[in-house]
Amino acid sequence: METPSSPVVLDSLDGWHRSHSCGELTAAHAGQTVCLMGWVQYRRDHGGLIFIDLRDRQGLTQVVFSPELAPQAHQRAHHLRAEYVLAVRGEVRLRPADMHNPNLVTGEVEVYVQELKILATAKTPPFPIEDRVDVTEALRLKYRYLDLRRSSMTQNLLMRHRLTQAARTYLNSHAFVEVETPTLTKSTPEGARDFLVPSRLSPGMFYALPQSPQLFKQLLMCGGLDRYYQIARCFRDEDLRADRQPEFTQIDIEMAFVDEAGVMEMAEGLMAALIREALGKDISLPLPRLTYREAMGRFGSDKPDLRFGLELVDVTSIVQGSSFKLFAEAPLVKAIAVPGGGELSRKEIDDLTEMVKTYGATGLAWIKIRDDGWQSPIAKFLSPAEQDGLTQALQLQPGDIVFFQAASPAVVHAALGALRLRLAERFQLIDESQLALTWVTDFPLLEWDDEDKRWVAMHHPFTAPNDPQALVHNPASATARAYDLVLNGNEVGGGSIRIHDPETQRRMFAALGISPEEAQAKFGFLLEALSFGAPPHGGIAFGLDRLVMLLAGCRSIRDVIAFPKTQKGVCLMTEAPSTVAPRQLRELSLRVRETTPEG
Ligand code: AMO
Repeated sequence: METPSSPVVLDSLDGWHRSHSCGELTAAHAGQTVCLMGWVQYRRDHGGLIFIDLRDRQGLTQVVFSPELAPQAHQRAHHLRAEYVLAVRGEVRLRPADMHNPNLVTGEVEVYVQELKILATAKTPPFPIEDRVDVTEALRLKYRYLDLRRSSMTQNLLMRHRLTQAARTYLNSHAFVEVETPTLTKSTPEGARDFLVPSRLSPGMFYALPQSPQLFKQLLMCGGLDRYYQIARCFRDEDLRADRQPEFTQIDIEMAFVDEAGVMEMAEGLMAALIREALGKDISLPLPRLTYREAMGRFGSDKPDLRFGLELVDVTSIVQGSSFKLFAEAPLVKAIAVPGGGELSRKEIDDLTEMVKTYGATGLAWIKIRDDGWQSPIAKFLSPAEQDGLTQALQLQPGDIVFFQAASPAVVHAALGALRLRLAERFQLIDESQLALTWVTDFPLLEWDDEDKRWVAMHHPFTAPNDPQALVHNPASATARAYDLVLNGNEVGGGSIRIHDPETQRRMFAALGISPEEAQAKFGFLLEALSFGAPPHGGIAFGLDRLVMLLAGCRSIRDVIAFPKTQKGVCLMTEAPSTVAPRQLRELSLRVRETTPEG
């Protein structure tokens, strides 16, 4: 038995079992003897009685130590501190009516302790285990296991768990087979840098961690598996953002004997099941579809947020004869009109101008529509006919503001696409309760890589072209049998129908500037598999982390990953990556250079 100054003596479980969680006792349990286990959230001494809020992942229950009922337990309860781990046995009693806590499921009852076990003591945590803690993310990540005790974090992981199970249930019921594919493998080009793992047994050789299971799932179709899925971990060494992690999880899917319609219908059913599980909402199917051209043209983005308007309007033909040289000479002029946006200050317009410059724009032209005319640095260059044309095309009203971008299509779309999002935020046009899903289809097959001066695949090199001939004759115009699924302006999934004959696959590699020898060395196994009778096939992968982030209403992908990495790819808790012992390097035939990578 402890005295006030002696250390707490820990108890063992001695065969005690939890009878209930800390989140389930109600008035219906009154009179029962129960056993609860959990962490001390708060301790309050009220004269004779000591109250503890006991917490586990399900909730909080008030437990009461009374000197009359259990003098020994009451005596020990003086030692209890936040985050001590307890087991208590006691009787469920109704709280006095004026002491009910309507915010808690267990708010009508309390447990009068008969026996107490102290299972672990705890140092004072670096931040309180509460939902609204004002603490840096770095500290939360360093003590992630404490952060996870907070209810909002627990709820995020539980939501993730439910969605993963719902995906499995849906896919199992549609004859999909869950198959695991290797983590130590060969590079799969998904457009990012590979993480490499040196091989001890083959000195100087490396495995690549998979950027996705893309090739394996196609090989499973060649293997006759017909319908595959995997909750698959993917690894990409790319610049991190709020919605990206270097290792992340996909709900990865592949189907044989299907075309676009088959994959998209199945994917829509899965999305509906996930949204029902997450939010209890039904979405109406089929989902809307936009081609890539339409999405870029109307919204300046291949992942348009459809929860608000502010569409881009092509005004090139209206201003092409303008005395404003920039408008007259640009290949494309587009505008966004903001109804009632005339209240924007000069400072705000200057900030928006700086923002669009990061997308390659040289500036941002604007006009405020006033009752007494147009206020704008460029209004004087626009003839009455041009002003009329713009008023009609943009349906301008006094009080509005219009922004223009005159440049190459790529710059116009990138700049106005970003501006559109910024304006929606500024004018609070987004209804956060809405779910706006859309497919984006018919992407360009190839993209020109200005740095490497060559074509690269926009999705990946295994995506089938809509017209295989275009690959040879006009690669720039070739479109892909690819589709992305977009939720509220975020790409939550992407996939395609694959090339399933070796000849087209060879032509695709050639279009990407991959020589036959290189194709054989890197993808010989795929080309060979395609030559042994590959079924037509296609698939899709959903970003599970991203989806959970959006459905749980989180701002960062890190909030739905148990042990995420920082923007710099560091785990602050384990301090990975770290140096290794010289012996380990020797075994791998590696030596670390003293110089910087550039040196
Ligand atoms: P893709 O590269 O489009 O397709 O990836 C599919 C989905 O995965 C999510 N995602 C990410 N999530 C978090 N962090 C990242 N770094 C990250 N990168 C991608 C996105 C994306 O829509 N093999 C193909 C799929 C296929 O063709 O079937 C693939 O991986 O939500």
